[in-house]
Amino acid sequence: MCGIVAYVGPNPAFPIVIEGLKRLEYRGYDSAGIATIEKDGALTVSKKKGKVADLTSHIGKLTPTGSIGMGHTRWATHGPPNDINAHPHKGASDRLAIIHNGIIENFATIKESLKCRGHNLASETDSEVLAHLIEEVLDTSSLGLFDAVRAALSQVVGAYALVVIDKKNPGRLIAARKSSPLVIGIGEDGAYYVASDATPIISHTKNVVYLEDEEVASLDVESGLRIRTISNDIITPEVHALEIELESIEKGGYEHFMLKEIFEQPQSIRDSIRGRINLQLGEIKMQGIDDHWEKWENASRILILGCGTSWHAGLVAEYLFEEFARIPVEVEYASEFRYRNPIIRPDDVVIAISQSGETADTLAAIKTAKEVGAHVFGVCNVVGSSIPRETDSGAYTHAGPEIGVASTKAFTSQVAVLSMMALHIGNKKGNIPRERFTRLIAELNNIPELVEQVLDQAPRIDEIAKQFSKAENALYLGRGYQFPIALEGALKLKEISYIHAEGYPAAEMKHGPIALIDDDMPVIFIAPMDDVYEKVVSNVQEVKARGGRLLGVVTEGDKDVASLADHIIEIPRCDDALAPLLSVVPLQLLSYRMAVLRDCNVDQPRNLAKSVTVE
Ligand code: F6R
Repeated sequence: MCGIVAYVGPNPAFPIVIEGLKRLEYRGYDSAGIATIEKDGALTVSKKKGKVADLTSHIGKLTPTGSIGMGHTRWATHGPPNDINAHPHKGASDRLAIIHNGIIENFATIKESLKCRGHNLASETDSEVLAHLIEEVLDTSSLGLFDAVRAALSQVVGAYALVVIDKKNPGRLIAARKSSPLVIGIGEDGAYYVASDATPIISHTKNVVYLEDEEVASLDVESGLRIRTISNDIITPEVHALEIELESIEKGGYEHFMLKEIFEQPQSIRDSIRGRINLQLGEIKMQGIDDHWEKWENASRILILGCGTSWHAGLVAEYLFEEFARIPVEVEYASEFRYRNPIIRPDDVVIAISQSGETADTLAAIKTAKEVGAHVFGVCNVVGSSIPRETDSGAYTHAGPEIGVASTKAFTSQVAVLSMMALHIGNKKGNIPRERFTRLIAELNNIPELVEQVLDQAPRIDEIAKQFSKAENALYLGRGYQFPIALEGALKLKEISYIHAEGYPAAEMKHGPIALIDDDMPVIFIAPMDDVYEKVVSNVQEVKARGGRLLGVVTEGDKDVASLADHIIEIPRCDDALAPLLSVVPLQLLSYRMAVLRDCNVDQPRNLAKSVTVE
């Protein structure tokens, strides 16, 4: 949700910032802009509606050469995507420029008072007020840039990741953060980098500092890195080593990040379970649970919070935890939970699920739960992001960077981690017969190989996609563990192909959606041979009797659904509880291929952004 990147150091900033913007484009891509301070002291700003490629062709060959610069790629909140609303924004006297990710909640009040004091604001954004405010503090006080930013931000309510450059301080970046992510990179050549996440930094340095809420940093080629809080406490920077590799954020020969990430799933699931399952000892080890065992042992309820695909992983977890841990579970959209005066008890355990670790609604829901003393456990992918830092304990999914806007490998890694959690708690509580537990952990350990077998069917799925790619609607049906997969399959299709799709519990179809079925409607049944298989076969017959173009995702060797469906995709046999890890994969591939056939921008679907940092 807006990406920001900045550089100061011995080299020209422009190529570094543009490369960084390309890496961050998955966060927002409706306009882009760049600002530099040139050797002659001029502050140059170029910005353009559209993608980073539109910005670079707008700039053409006359690229800036200054060694301090910053760039922004926007996902519009206040004001439509256009050249004026694009960042960077300058102050009144062209002295400084800012880039901002987040929302300034009191911008209207600040804007009004700035106008009364004679400021002319050009854009409709909430962000522009920051440039004017900081410049005004500089002009009307004796404060230096670092202190002026702190002083200005003390008047601001809302969320920000902010970078400021100033003509009078041409060797210095000022960066500030509150509720929006910001990482500082420290180069060995004296350079500094600032970015929304580590992806633009990784090719330059592995040494990073994660800025905390209400901290302001000064990154100066001469005086080094200094951090203070808004209220002027000195902070000693803690340098971390980045663990991601450059290859993990590149396409590696695949046509799209999404396809690469779908095919990475055997490895990403392996990474999620590595070191946590011990087949010799017949046990699961999860430090984040063991360290707080009394919370889980005495939990009267588990509350699962997340948004979008992460919420779907939470729904799978509901089935897992109720089956194995035998603790009542409620799964909530984080965005709804916050606004309905929720009842949370101190003996509730809250699980917050998030790939990015930055989703604003999930973050805010965690804060609400913590206020009443609930124990909050995070299941997150991005190391060092806000949610893991806000939770009491947690487990990283270790899926590696996910760049495609549609979540794929992050989902299967979330489900793998949640499966281990449910099995571990169930085992510790003595709920699972030893023989079943041993079999389940062996099967989970073997899931990456089974996912490989599903991926081997990609050419066949491509053929099926051709049959369905002109559809305008689609229905996904599943029961039990496969109901959340029906929802996830439908979400994947609609977000990247713009085909309207609905996921339903198969039996609920009779209560309404069956009216939609005609000869043109693709109906995708997720129907492995599980506990509810017979019931689902009856539902398939009900659809077959009314037309519908039937695709079944079935267990290998299936006869009943196969005899009714127009197409089938087989998944290997496994325990009902683990089958979501397999059945979702062909649905990801199907959506991907249908979207490609429809000429859609798979990695950057319209109106979406990877990380939703606004509420
Ligand atoms: C869908 C998708 C979104 C995210 C949602 C939550 O493919 O990616 O629905 O799942 O925005 O994001 P995280 O998991 O980062 O909290």
